[in-house]
Amino acid sequence: MHAAVVTAFGRPPRYQQHPDPRPAEGEVLIRVLAAGLHPRVRSGAAGTHYTSDQTLPLIPGFDGVGRTPEGTRVFFSGLRAPNGSMAEFVAVPASQLVPLPEGVDDVMVAGAMNPAMSAWLALTHRAGLKPGERVLILGATGNAGQMAVQLARLLGAGTITAAGRNAHTLAGLPALGADHTVALTAADDTIAARLAETAANADVVVDYLWGHPTEVALAALSDARTDPATRLRWVHVGAMAGPDITLPGATLRKADIDFRGSGQGSVPPVEMHTAHRELVDRLPTDNLTIETLAIPLSEVGTAWATNTPTGTRIVLLP
Ligand SMILES: NC(=O)c1ccc[n+]([C@@H]2O[C@H](COP(=O)([O-])OP(=O)(O)OC[C@H]3O[C@@H](n4cnc5c(N)ncnc54)[C@H](OP(=O)(O)O)[C@@H]3O)[C@@H](O)[C@H]2O)c1
Repeated sequence: MHAAVVTAFGRPPRYQQHPDPRPAEGEVLIRVLAAGLHPRVRSGAAGTHYTSDQTLPLIPGFDGVGRTPEGTRVFFSGLRAPNGSMAEFVAVPASQLVPLPEGVDDVMVAGAMNPAMSAWLALTHRAGLKPGERVLILGATGNAGQMAVQLARLLGAGTITAAGRNAHTLAGLPALGADHTVALTAADDTIAARLAETAANADVVVDYLWGHPTEVALAALSDARTDPATRLRWVHVGAMAGPDITLPGATLRKADIDFRGSGQGSVPPVEMHTAHRELVDRLPTDNLTIETLAIPLSEVGTAWATNTPTGTRIVLLP
């Protein structure tokens, strides 16, 4: 088959011949129709994702849309590295297949599912968001952050504060459901004041940033809460702004903050699969919007080098 193949970390994959995957017990050979180029795919291909065992060569790709040997169109995930979805065929655990309804577009599902899953898991499975609760989204301008805004609104959040860096995208978030926006390009004290004004009593934070913006937000919220004993559930999902934070102990004594992560490891595969099933049912009816840019897999080198506007997800087509 043809596949995108990484032979050295730090170099983009090359489109070349590769042996067909041989499904193990319990796996199904899927013909790939579309695979999203998510941040998780890039970090896996670079060997920097925390799940990477440094095996080379590898085929990148975390999930996708494909067809079973019987002709059923499915969304799939749960792939075993080094065999990713950026190939003509991939072996997928049968337990990780989700049949797709007619009329749902391959490219839309391949682009939207990973960012939507991150937001859905964080808001529902990890934070247990209840209608009326207040949500702060850090990193709301990315694909996942935009999904979090839309899903929080659909789940009945009371107020949604969307914080992000990209001014143009931030300005569009009220149309997706945000009540307030916070520009993370301002000085730290300005950001802190705006967060205190719009999200002091947040019940849930969905955090795609970590790093310095998280430090600023943590300090701002822990100082500003009306009742510091009301629990704040802080769900760490991504680390776009840095892998670490400095967390003063006083922050945790000052306010009741419950930290948890959401990702591979902290969320078992069966729960990820449940989230995928729940979302496949919602994607067509909830009008969740995502911009996609479809590129043939044979042009994977170009795709890797393409800087899409924030909020646009590249999808590769074998
Ligand atoms: N744990 C999970 O299950 C899971 C699932 C999906 C995604 N994720 C993670 O979630 C994160 C976001 O994913 P995504 O799909 O939304 O990625 P994306 O579409 O590429 O968006 C990334 C966003 O981060 C913003 N950003 C980058 N550095 C920033 C900084 N220093 N301060 C503020 N904003 C910054 C970018 O803003 P600009 O436009 O200004 O550059 C962009 O809007 C990634 O780390 C990804 O790996 C985790």
